[in-house]
Amino acid sequence: MFACSDIIFYDTLANLSISLPVDNNPKVCYSLIVKTKDLLGLKELTADEIGEILDLSAEMKQLLLSGHKKSTRMAGKNVAHAFYEPSTRTAVSFDEAAKILGAVSCGMSVANSAAAKKGENLMDTAKVLSAMKFDVIVIRHQSAGAPHFIAKHVTASVVNAGDGRNEHPTQALLDMLTMKERFGKLKGLKVAIVGDVKNSRVARSNIYGLSKMGAEIRIACPDTLLFSGSDDMSKNYSVKFFTNPEDAVRDADVVMALRLQLERMSGGLVPSIAEYHTLYGVDDRLLSFAKKDCLVMHPGPVNRGVELATSVMDSERSLIDDQVTSGVAVRMAVLTLLTGCKEVRP
Ligand code: CP
Repeated sequence: MFACSDIIFYDTLANLSISLPVDNNPKVCYSLIVKTKDLLGLKELTADEIGEILDLSAEMKQLLLSGHKKSTRMAGKNVAHAFYEPSTRTAVSFDEAAKILGAVSCGMSVANSAAAKKGENLMDTAKVLSAMKFDVIVIRHQSAGAPHFIAKHVTASVVNAGDGRNEHPTQALLDMLTMKERFGKLKGLKVAIVGDVKNSRVARSNIYGLSKMGAEIRIACPDTLLFSGSDDMSKNYSVKFFTNPEDAVRDADVVMALRLQLERMSGGLVPSIAEYHTLYGVDDRLLSFAKKDCLVMHPGPVNRGVELATSVMDSERSLIDDQVTSGVAVRMAVLTLLTGCKEVRP
């Protein structure tokens, strides 16, 4: 549980009690998504909105791959990055995206911040960033609901870069972009997600996003690594849960392995790392149950030899590097849409 000023929020999905921010001052709508001011999760987005972000992300990826890494789309805008949890891919790619688009990009060192050293609470830190007139605040926080809470109290657009076990929307968007480019579609794809679902915001965002886009999701994990509410999830989304990974990956187009999040476990949820790898590690044997040309994904960072066998990680099947490239493109698209900079500036 996390307490902040007059609001209390909880680090479990079931207890997530933050309501979404109301946009009292809508911007000019260049697109569907800017109506909402913030990007807090995929649960709140429609298939059309997700489709629009993916379309613009695909354009951004072409720009990136063509070597054009200097744009003025976001000239005059500024972006603050507040990462209360470690990150390589998400933090660096948001920074890279903002800089490619011509925005001023400022990272906040949480370890040396007033929050860490002087007792400032999250809300007051967010108000400081808002008073500095940032257009966008990108935040990763260990507590579910932290970005939603901040979004209600600042005029800046807030982007959720991962909140506790709740959501990691830009990760799922980059996963969907990567799949869509490989298969030419998301509708009808069979996507197996194997691993530590209980602690995974990536799994939740992918369930919401992929399901809305017409894919079929199969989850495989030990009972101890399943979240509560999976029955309700199955009723509302196109997802099935398995304990036997062979059943989950059968005929799958994509197998996504999840990181074993030891930092979020109080212990005892898996008998041993070696046993976990034997039962749930994605290796060539497990992939033999999937489609012959099945592709493999992982949000990173990977515990090599734990959730993914090295032979699979380094194989032609692996989309991991492409996922990272897609991540820059998706973040370019999200920043562009939220700041209303979709049109190229002169
Ligand atoms: N996938 C992901 O969020 O990676 P980072 O923790 O490196 O940002």
